[in-house]
Amino acid sequence: AILREISDLDGLETQLRQSLPIQDVKVVPGDADQSKEVKQLLGKAAAQMLANQIKNDSIVTVTGGSTMAAVADHMRPVQNFHPLFVPARGGLGDMYEYQASSICVQMAKQVNGSYRLLYVPDTVGEEIYSKMMEEPAVKDVLSLIEKADFVIHGIGDAMKMAKRRKASQEQIEHLKKNSAVGEAFGYYFDQDGKTIHQLNSIGMTKEHLTEDKTIITVAGGTSKCQVISAFFKWGPSDVLIIDEAMARHLLNQI
Ligand code: G3H
Repeated sequence: AILREISDLDGLETQLRQSLPIQDVKVVPGDADQSKEVKQLLGKAAAQMLANQIKNDSIVTVTGGSTMAAVADHMRPVQNFHPLFVPARGGLGDMYEYQASSICVQMAKQVNGSYRLLYVPDTVGEEIYSKMMEEPAVKDVLSLIEKADFVIHGIGDAMKMAKRRKASQEQIEHLKKNSAVGEAFGYYFDQDGKTIHQLNSIGMTKEHLTEDKTIITVAGGTSKCQVISAFFKWGPSDVLIIDEAMARHLLNQI
């Protein structure tokens, strides 16, 4: 039964490689909404994928969230390499473990690499935003984000992310009215991949998702199926690490 399961997953990966504009895909068994272990499997697969591609002087920029935290937990040293981990975004919500900066620290520890921090909230008012963008420490991290070789990131359900960010009732209404389904890099988008709202957010923007970077998207769970479809319409991704629930959903849509 185990062998059959593995070959089933291989089949899903082959079909996805043929039908999506991606370089590579890894599918792990199960549904991350049903079991915590599946998120760990996603983390392990993503960590391995990165380990296979990373070089001594690679710069890796990372977003926050529980999925990225799982990736960090599974990272292991690669030869004598010392890559640099940079948070793609500022902080959000109260969970220390889910901050992009905390995840960078954890990743760097796990692989004997180094890290930089972005000590700013991920969303600020307009005036503070322009001022902060002039801060040398912020500029420095932004220039590393620009130079990054790898982007490794999660995607989120729009409403869940708005709540995690403690968005105002007005913002939540705006997202609902415009049928926002997903969120990535501080952008909320609808099912057609149209940006509904972009936060005044310190850190990576869509313009940083350039072709010279390898973009690794890690996500799983039935609740994010609609989000991944919308995400593909919103922006680029080179490598996909997903669970079986999401893989079957994507193939049903093609
Ligand atoms: O931007 C997306 C979120 O960071 C995803 O968070 O991995 O906890 O679902 P999550």
